[in-house]
Amino acid sequence: MLFGRSKARNRCLGKIKLFEEHGELLTLFEKFRELKTKEDQANSLELQEHANTVMTTLDEGIKGLDNLDAFFDFLHQVGASHRRIPGFKAEYFWKIEQPFLEAVETTLGDRYTENVQNIYKITIKFIIETLVNGFDNANTTTPT
Ligand code: HEM
Repeated sequence: MLFGRSKARNRCLGKIKLFEEHGELLTLFEKFRELKTKEDQANSLELQEHANTVMTTLDEGIKGLDNLDAFFDFLHQVGASHRRIPGFKAEYFWKIEQPFLEAVETTLGDRYTENVQNIYKITIKFIIETLVNGFDNANTTTPT
């Protein structure tokens, strides 16, 4: 597992600057929180928790590559679940691409060779494309 419960994981999560670098996404998150019912709020993912969720999802995505049906189902569902966030655009998923690659680089250190870098570049692109497809093709009335 790339992002285990290790010091390396904490380090790499610190590097996920998604919301630092994209203040407008933070606003979406806050607006979403205001809109939610009490029950929803109880289940709500806080921002930091969402960073963990993102990394776990990517991790699961990579691990799931040996079963493509399950891979597509899982990531399509995660993509589609972002339909309930008012103002969310599919292109926002791409904002995770660079922070993710930086996190991999930090985690792997010397092992981050050009070859490995290429593999991760292709992999994250494939995962994000799948999230975007899930979002784009979701039926807005489908429960998430
Ligand atoms: C690759 C990028 C991302 C991944 C893998 C990801 C993954 C997830 C997952 C697994 C959930 C929980 C879904 C569920 O409850 O069914 C979630 C919820 C959410 N995500 Fe993302 N996400 C990504 C990007 C973003 C971005 C860019 C935003 C920007 C606002 C965002 C905002 C949210 C919000 C507001 C929720 C709902 C939180 C709640 O229930 O309290 N996500 N995300």
